[in-house]
Amino acid sequence: MLRERLPVFEPVRICPSILSADLVHLGDDIASVAQAGAGFIHVDVMDGHFVPNLTMGVPLVKQLAHFTEVPLDVHLMISNPIEQLPWFIEAGADMLTVHAEALDGEGLVCVVRMMRDAGVRAAVALKPATPVDAIAPVLEEVDMVLVMSVEPGFSGQSYIEGSQDKVAAVVRMARERGCAPLIQVDGGIGCSTAPLVCAQGADLLVCGNAVFAADDPASALREIQAIGEDAREDALSIA
Ligand code: DX5
Ligand code: ZN
Repeated sequence: MLRERLPVFEPVRICPSILSADLVHLGDDIASVAQAGAGFIHVDVMDGHFVPNLTMGVPLVKQLAHFTEVPLDVHLMISNPIEQLPWFIEAGADMLTVHAEALDGEGLVCVVRMMRDAGVRAAVALKPATPVDAIAPVLEEVDMVLVMSVEPGFSGQSYIEGSQDKVAAVVRMARERGCAPLIQVDGGIGCSTAPLVCAQGADLLVCGNAVFAADDPASALREIQAIGEDAREDALSIA
């Protein structure tokens, strides 16, 4: 089942990562961030191979797609995306993100084509050490580029200093090629780091601990969003 409605992101939007949610009361946590204006619900799929951790998968995506109206952005930290992609499409993911490191250029083109043919938003992710050139084969074809600001695998890690430079590099590369994919940043994003990446052009901020470990996740979400948006507006007014 594919859902049609997807928001157009002009303001900075937050994508709460349910890896940090209270999984026993997941429905309540999702309802509260949905009401606070979450852009996507971010689902971290880890296979214990591409990354050391093992998390959630197709059955949960399927249930969430029926549970919430907020689009699902599914971050695939898996070694074999070509094989598993159809399962996640069928489960109702709205946006699927594959890692550039999991595939060669030809494989990347192939998965992005599979997503487009299925009517799912397509995204490609870069680990911190991966140069932006890795997304060159698909940059014009993707809806979003995900810049990792921690090593993928666990929530609650600290933002890797300088990750905002990679956001700037993606923006530059996209401009040179005449395209404008959304840019999402994932890892260690909260009130102090959101301004760094939003000032460089980030549209979407994945927040795990900064939202779900807060006393009031809904107000934490709104606060990070407002701070990120201010930084982006300031940067735009200077440019
Ligand atoms: C890490 C995941 C992230 C993680 C973010 O591999 O991709 O989405 O849940 O968590 P925080 O915001 O706590 O760093
Ligand atoms: Zn993630």
